[in-house]
Order: sequence, then C-alpha cells, then structure tokens
Amino acid sequence: MTSDAETAPSSSALGGRLLTLTVGPPAAGGTFVARHEGRVVFVRGTTPGETVTARLLEDPEERANARFWRAEALDVLEAGPDRAPSVWEEAGIDGVGGAEWAHIALPAQRRIATEVMQELLRRAGVTSFPIEQVQVEPAPHDAEGLAWRTRVRYAVDADGRVGMRGWRSHEVRPVGADPLSAQAIRDLQLGEWTAPEGTEAIDAVAPSAGPASVVLIGRELDPSAVVIPETWGDADVSVRTGRGLVPLRGDGLVHERLGERMFAVSATGFWQSHRRAAELLSEVVESTLRAPHGGSAWDLYGGVGVFSAVAARQVGDDGSVVSVEGNRRASQIAAENLEDLPQVSTATADVTDWVRARRGGVDTVVLDPPRSGAGTELMDLLAAAVRQRIVYVSCEPSTLARDLAAIEKKGWHIADLRAFDLFPHTHHIESVAVLERVSA
Ligand SMILES: C[S@@+](CC[C@H](N)C(=O)[O-])C[C@H]1O[C@@H](n2cnc3c(N)ncnc32)[C@H](O)[C@@H]1O
Repeated sequence: MTSDAETAPSSSALGGRLLTLTVGPPAAGGTFVARHEGRVVFVRGTTPGETVTARLLEDPEERANARFWRAEALDVLEAGPDRAPSVWEEAGIDGVGGAEWAHIALPAQRRIATEVMQELLRRAGVTSFPIEQVQVEPAPHDAEGLAWRTRVRYAVDADGRVGMRGWRSHEVRPVGADPLSAQAIRDLQLGEWTAPEGTEAIDAVAPSAGPASVVLIGRELDPSAVVIPETWGDADVSVRTGRGLVPLRGDGLVHERLGERMFAVSATGFWQSHRRAAELLSEVVESTLRAPHGGSAWDLYGGVGVFSAVAARQVGDDGSVVSVEGNRRASQIAAENLEDLPQVSTATADVTDWVRARRGGVDTVVLDPPRSGAGTELMDLLAAAVRQRIVYVSCEPSTLARDLAAIEKKGWHIADLRAFDLFPHTHHIESVAVLERVSA
C-alpha cells in the first residue's frame, strides 16, 4: 500500500483535469485505489466499487512519469454499495476536512478500516499474530459515530469568521451542523461568532467533568479585546498568545473523570478526543499490562498520567511507575494528578533519550506515542530492557505495523492486537498491541 503524500497542492488551486474512474480497494490515508491507463490514482471522497468523475490533483504533464496520481471525486456516476447520505453536509470535497468518510455507511467504514489495518500489517511483514483476527471494533455505546469529539480545533479567517479548513486547503469554510463535535462544543455556536482581530484558531473542549473550555489562539492577540459572548454560558475562556496562556475565566485547566479518579489537563493539552476513548483504552491497558505486584512499570508518552494510574494500581505501594512525557506542562500536571500515588514519579524528557540512558530493566511498559510512532531505535531499546510485557497504544496503524515488525525481529511476539473506531467518519484507527518475549 502506498500512502498518499502530504504535499499535494490544495484542490481549489488546481481546477485539474477530469477523469472517469472506477474505484477499487482502500489505500492508507482515507483514499481508494483506481487505475487510469495503467497508472494508480488515489481517489478521495469515494467508496469501493463506484464510478466517479474525479478531478486530478496533479498536472498530468508535470507528473507524466509519476508512479501514481491523486484525485478527488466530484460526481458519482454509479454509487457503490457502501455509500450513504453524508452525516455532515459541509464536509467533503470543497467542504471542511476532518470527516473524509462521512459519506460512507458506518459499518462499511469499520470494514474498510479493517482491510487497511490488515494490509498495513501484512506489508510491514508482521508474522507473529493472525492478521485476519484484527477487526476494527466500535467504541462502546457509539451506534452512530456522532457527537464524539471532545477536542476540536477551529480555524479563523482574516475577517474573524470561525470554521474549519478544507482538506489540504488554507481556506476556512463554514462548519454547519458540526455533528461530530460533542454537544457542549456545538452549544458554544462558534460558527456564528466573529472572533477578535488576531485570532488564528480556537480550541474548544468538552471535558467529562466541569465546564467546557474555549481557548483563542493568536500570536499577537490582545486578551483585553476579547468580549465573551453569552452563548458560551459558564465555559472557561483563555487566550494563548506568543507569550503563553492567559486565563480570562477559569484557570486554564479542564477536568476529566475516569472511574473514581479526576485528571486535570491543560485546556490546550492532550487528552483522547473520543468521549469514550480514555475509559476504553484504560480498561484495555488494565486487562493486558499485568504489571507484577511490587514490580516496575514505565508509562512512556505518559501525557497527564492516565496509564500511570492503571500501572500504579497493579504494582501497588511497593512497586514503582515512571511516567515519561516530553511536554513540560503535561508532565507537571501528571505529577499533580498522581500525587496521592507515591509509587509514581514523572520525568520530563524525550522518550527515546530517556530509555537509552536507563541502566537496568523494567518489568512492564505501556507506550502511547504520537502518530510518528515509537521508531525502530526505541523498539530495539525496549526489546532489550523490558522483562515481561509491553502494551503499545497507537493512533497510527502504519507506524504501529513498522514498530511491531521491528520488535518481532528482536525475539518478541504479539500476544493480542485490537483495533477501535475512536474517530468515526474519518479514516483514523486506534489500536492496542500486547507484546511478550517469545521465551516468556
Ligand atoms: C498520544 S499522546 C498520549 C498521552 C497519554 N498516554 C494519554 O493517553 O492521555 C502522546 C503524548 O506523547 C508526548 N510526546 C510526543 N513526542 C514525545 C517524545 N519524543 N518524547 C516524550 N513525549 C512525547 C505528547 O506530548 C503527548 O502527551
């Protein structure tokens, strides 16, 4: 599978040549494979089995020798069986990005994501797990895949209009009904509001505890120019300028409840976006990590300490857990969130540098890297340092597949691999791999 590169010019800048294409299987990146005169064309905005009129995103003369072209479907000439009325009219070609599968029936999205995930694992050369067993599962209680996004970044144009950017486009477009956002975010009605001069983006958060949060972002934004509209109710409001975060209402933190425990998170910091994700992933880590009582665990890419809390319960008061996180503020907040757990310590560091500097090993590791994945060096270091189990939480199957293939070569095998639809109506997939030493 070839992933479509991130460098294509925006479609609106091109007005490219039109082709009639018959669309085949999915490719990585949310696109589908068609062929034109023998050449592969990656098409977005379509579904397998349909015939579309598609606009080329390349100049065919300039890319005459290219192995593949990219295109986007403008008209459906013959619909495929997976096409459904879009859940978000304003999303899609020439609309807002971030819901590129809104026109595909939800069960079909999961089947297609499963095909993509299995193919990525095959192509990476993963051998220690029956790949056909990996199936993308829905998040619990998520029948329609709507109102799940608790973290939304809106874009703002030069006139202060709030919307979202088109796919690979700088244009800010209206969000309309915004159906993937949590209700508390839609209630803010940001699409109806005009942002003050200098606002470049807005982060809206709907946490599971406490009020919603709005952060206006702009290097030169003047906090005194912000007039909070009534539609924001009791939402916390901050401004993030080039000089840092200035809370106007609240303290710049949001609060998340996970079982009995509360977690503070910076209003612009990382927390899983799907409203069920943190709970679901914590349960999966809880049931798979098996950190030994009195033993040791590392929570790598630890954020504000979600999985450290799980590991701390397992190792108990006599064990030890280190949460390693690169973002200083997140690391500080993790220490505060977990201050009642003396077995947990935090380190602010690049994960690979930190692991490379360790002497002696560790019983278990949970790692949850960004989309770029852990990388081969870190997988090699972990293969040598970890005595029992590694639980790898991933939001990007292509880098997960690469990293799993790397650690298999070091004498580890995959004991379990699950995938979850935590980003409905997009092509993104969350997954959790459980790794054990072959000799264990
Ligand atoms: C996917 S988030 C996971 C956070 C946490 N496990 C959770 O579930 O809330 C990835 C985290 O890794 C951090 N990060 C990214 N690159 C890093 C690196 N090279 N070293 C340390 N931390 C890093 C980010 O700041 C972010 O908090």
